[in-house]
Amino acid sequence: MTDADATLAATPPMGWNSWNAHSCAVTEDDIRAAADALVETGLRDAGYEYVVVDDCWMADETDDAGRLVADSEDFPSGMAALADYVHDRGLQFGLYSSAGSHTCQGYPATLGRERLHAEQFADWGVDFLKYDNCGDHCGRDAVDRYGAMGEALAAVDRDIVYSICEWGQSNPWEWGRNVGGHCWRVTDDAVATWHTVDDEFGLGIADIIDRVAVLDIAAAHGPGGYNDPDMLQVGNGPDSAQSQHEPTDIERPLSDVENRTHFAFWCLLGAPLFVGTDLTGLSQDLLDLLTNERLLAIDQDPLGLQGTPDRRDPTREVWSKRLADGAAVALWNRGEEQAEIRTHVDETSVPTAGERYSVLDCWTGEQWESFGELSATVEPRDTAVFRVTPT
Ligand code: GLA
Repeated sequence: MTDADATLAATPPMGWNSWNAHSCAVTEDDIRAAADALVETGLRDAGYEYVVVDDCWMADETDDAGRLVADSEDFPSGMAALADYVHDRGLQFGLYSSAGSHTCQGYPATLGRERLHAEQFADWGVDFLKYDNCGDHCGRDAVDRYGAMGEALAAVDRDIVYSICEWGQSNPWEWGRNVGGHCWRVTDDAVATWHTVDDEFGLGIADIIDRVAVLDIAAAHGPGGYNDPDMLQVGNGPDSAQSQHEPTDIERPLSDVENRTHFAFWCLLGAPLFVGTDLTGLSQDLLDLLTNERLLAIDQDPLGLQGTPDRRDPTREVWSKRLADGAAVALWNRGEEQAEIRTHVDETSVPTAGERYSVLDCWTGEQWESFGELSATVEPRDTAVFRVTPT
């Protein structure tokens, strides 16, 4: 490992990804508009730095040598020019391929051509690779396929964050870091709803939290390598392109409280934060949510730990995440009626050396002192989040 590797993804990567907003209809104009919007809205300055083009950027065929070619209608300027555009705005550029013969949408992908494509990506100025799990695996297991790309990326003369998108099928938290990954998806795709039912595509936001709660994977999570519960669906609903593209039946956009709980939990989990909504029409409320400094500080805490559940029941849940100076505590009302949720620092990850604690409400910014009791009245599906620091 070089020094550069040690600082790459020292905290969970943050940015914007095209898939949830634009799905397979993505064009270079969408990417430019997203880059501009990241700057204009202040999202870039809040830390969202990677602009990632997901599936469907490629032409139907590779060139004769097997290199990927940008689709000439949707990406006429080519990927190097698009990377320049993104870099010129103080942002980083990301691309997508798959550890199989084809991408999930049937475009040519990388398996067996890792070195060639890694060199191409480096030449184009790619800073982040999302590497999916679709196509023919040619009989090779996940560690072998993802390891081949990890080696190829390590061999090029450019720092490229390596985002493993293997959906948690072969326990990537056990090997993701060792193959050079900086994050690894731990579940199926998130969709823009609270719950999905059995035969529907993907997982709702509450389903993903439930899945992470039982996986027992927090030990794998830390600086340089993170469990990834998938990109944000904050701001999305039935009209978002992914919702329309996939076989899902989404009836309404995520509500305000669902968006809050979604974002709060991704920060508590220390997740990579990839906004997946169309930034050109972002409301002020959603912008305020995505740039909440108190929540982002929890996500980006230098210890890089993952939050874990302390208590779960059908209506009230308590989760916490150890931070460099204390802990974040989340009180989630998963029921359908307002609830008073109480806990004590003894039950959570808060270091309990002292007697008094400073408590910061991460939604309101209000601050008070406590002898260890923590409580909140929480609306249905909402989550109270406190930063608790021994004084
Ligand atoms: C898979 C991935 C998604 C997205 C699509 C693109 O479903 O899990 O995140 O990249 O492929 O086709």
